This record gives sequence, C-alpha cells and structure tokens, in this order.
Amino acid sequence: MTKLASFGRPLRAAVIGASGGIGGAFVQHLCGLEGVDVVYAFSRRAAPKTGNCVAASLDYDDEDSIAAAASLAKEDGPLDLVLVASGLLHEGPGLQPEKSFRSLDAGNLARSFHVNAIGPALAAKHFLPILARDRKAVFAALSARVGSIGDNRLGGWYGYRAAKAALNMTIRCLAIEVARNRKEMICVGLHPGTVDSQLSKPFQGGVAEDKLFAPETAAGHLLEVVDGLAAGDSGKVFAWDGKEIPF
Ligand SMILES: NC(=O)c1ccc[n+]([C@@H]2O[C@H](COP(=O)([O-])OP(=O)(O)OC[C@H]3O[C@@H](n4cnc5c(N)ncnc54)[C@H](OP(=O)(O)O)[C@@H]3O)[C@@H](O)[C@H]2O)c1
Repeated sequence: MTKLASFGRPLRAAVIGASGGIGGAFVQHLCGLEGVDVVYAFSRRAAPKTGNCVAASLDYDDEDSIAAAASLAKEDGPLDLVLVASGLLHEGPGLQPEKSFRSLDAGNLARSFHVNAIGPALAAKHFLPILARDRKAVFAALSARVGSIGDNRLGGWYGYRAAKAALNMTIRCLAIEVARNRKEMICVGLHPGTVDSQLSKPFQGGVAEDKLFAPETAAGHLLEVVDGLAAGDSGKVFAWDGKEIPF
C-alpha cells in the first residue's frame, strides 16, 4: 500500500464522491495513512465525522454545495490532494449506456455530461484555489479508458464516452492554466480499470475475474499512480498501472 511519500506532511486531502465504491476506498486508505491530518469525504449523502475523516454534503446539482464544501475544507489550511471519484454510467431503467445512435436521448446525454464532466469542472473551480502552492499538490479526477477518442474501437456508450472525453479536455485546460503560476500543481485524469462497484455491476459479465478489481485494490493502484506523478505529467490521463492513455 502506498504511503504517498512524495507529498508533504501533515497531508490534507479531500475525496468527492466519497459514498461510491472507489471514493469510499480512497477515504478508508487515506484515513489510515501516517501523517494524514484530515480527509474530507464529500458526497450527496453526508456521513457522520469519524477519526480524522470529516464527512459533509456535496451535490453537483447545487453549485453552492460545492462552494460550501471547499470553504469547509480550507478552514485549517490548504489541501495537498483532491480526488474526484464521482461518476455516472446508468441511472434506473431510463438511463442506460446507449448501444446505438437510435437510443440517443437529450435528457440522458445532459445528465451524463452533468455528472461526468460539468460536476468535476465545477469541483476544479472551487477546489483548485485551495490546493497548496508551495509543494506538490494534485487534483485528480476519475475518468475512464472509454473516454479516449484514439482508443475507441467498439463505439456505443455515447453519453458516457463523450462526457469523459469532455472531462479529459477540461483536465488538459486546467493543467495548462495552473502551470502558468503554480509549477508544482498537477491535474490529471485516472482510469481505475474495471472495478466491482454499483457503476459497473450490470456490465461485469465478460470481465475475467483477475481483471475485476475490488474497490480497495483499485484505490491502492490509483494512489500509487498519484504518488509517482511529477509536474510534467499534468494534463494527462493515466491508467491504474501508471500507463498514459491517449486522448
Ligand atoms: N467501476 C468501474 O469499473 C469504473 C471504470 C472506469 C471508470 N470508473 C470511474 O470511476 C469513478 C468512480 O466510480 P465507482 O465505480 O466508484 O462508481 P459508484 O460506486 O457508482 O460511485 C459514484 C459516485 O458518484 C457520486 N455521484 C453520482 N451523481 C452525483 C451527483 N449528481 N453529485 C455528486 N456526486 C454524485 C455518487 O454519489 P451517490 O452515492 O450520492 O450516488 C457516488 O459517490 C467514476 O468516475 C467512474 O466513471 C469506474
């Protein structure tokens, strides 16, 4: 398990989407690390405060809640790490990944963009200003390999793929902008592999057992990648094994 040794101590982190499979595992891992001062666990359903974890509410449907979350997180000083682990692939029978252009639906496309691209962009708007300026600081958002245009050989999943591609573009723009005056700040996208969570549950059929990661394993892989990041990596998307994914 990584110790995030490349970060300063005491380390202060925030996880957005903390109620999810991977987000919850991030919180658990970070809370157990030596030298971690506080972990802010943000999600739509706030849980009570435990140990060095402070849980509070954040909903992409309400930008004020994102601003309030960032205000809470900056109270005791700047953050070192922000992990955006929110995302949406399906929602009830009405919103399922599209197999054909014939099923494209304006409402579903808008919903997918809202959660997968616009929400993380607003998280960046409110959380980048509270990241540390004098040491390594990382803003990492969970993307997906299927968001790669260069890697798309199967088609389908229009809304999810397109929204993750939009997220990747946002990450590249953020990286370019912050590099102008904050040399040690890194913005990246991360692909966790296929992870056993509510999001992937209906689509695990063809996945080999050794290719389906437990959320705890996936969180460990991704924190390892985050630990190894340097300024030159900013603006890119990395898979769980540290390999760069083309846009
Ligand atoms: N699992 C995989 O195989 C896989 C593969 C590639 C990429 N990813 C990406 O990894 C990330 C985490 O996925 P996961 O597997 O951990 O999924 P998950 O268990 O379904 O968790 C999704 C998280 O997103 C949050 N969320 C959804 N809508 C939101 C909204 N409107 N406002 C704020 N938060 C919202 C959920 O909060 P609630 O609990 O309140 O709904 C939950 O915390 C996602 O970005 C996903 O696209 C996952």
